[in-house]
Amino acid sequence: MTQDELKAMVGRAALDYVEAGQIVGVGTGSTVNHFIDALAGIKDRIPGAVSSSEASTARLARHGIAVFDCNAVGELAVYIDGADEIDGAGCMIKGGGAALTREKIVAAQARRFVCIADASKRVPVLGHFPLPVEVIPMAAQRIVRQFAALGGQATLRLQDGAPLVTDNGQHILDVRGLAIADPLGFESAVNQWPGVVTVGVFAHQRASVCLLGTADGVQTLR
Ligand code: 5RP
Repeated sequence: MTQDELKAMVGRAALDYVEAGQIVGVGTGSTVNHFIDALAGIKDRIPGAVSSSEASTARLARHGIAVFDCNAVGELAVYIDGADEIDGAGCMIKGGGAALTREKIVAAQARRFVCIADASKRVPVLGHFPLPVEVIPMAAQRIVRQFAALGGQATLRLQDGAPLVTDNGQHILDVRGLAIADPLGFESAVNQWPGVVTVGVFAHQRASVCLLGTADGVQTLR
């Protein structure tokens, strides 16, 4: 099976976690795109979704699925999203699609985080995938130096030769060379750095369930 077929498989499997009559939290990325396409088939069973990016909002809207503002709804039963890496405790690196801030906001509003990912995303220790960090532009170079002091090489993410601008009007640093053995402590520490909007370690908002797409089918990790 191709990586995309594995993503499609877990996207469909995530429908089992959508509760009838409940608004569902929706993440961002190519795996979530498969989930959104599958969700369209049962859209009459839910009032709609809360979305974590302009891209997912547009895709949901194209399928005729209502999109609610976070502030207009209460706690969500479930948030479904992909990951760039996930460890054995359900801690993740996210933000490869630059949507990490809104993803963390919607995840924090949900009782349960269901991570959908192909098997290549499962790692023993987070950090091989460059860690995305959304930053206020005027703080970027100081934050680059703070990561260098930890042994990380941070670079500004570019798009078409210019700094990528997130849905929130901020920039993204991608940090290589880290081995994040203590995701909770690392996330808490980097959160304190002035100018950091969101660090792409999801340990406080870790996955409660991971649906991992493998050649043998969907493996459920809890
Ligand atoms: C976007 C994300 C995505 O969930 C992550 O990058 C995985 O993406 P994909 O499903 O395309 O592999 O965090 O900000």
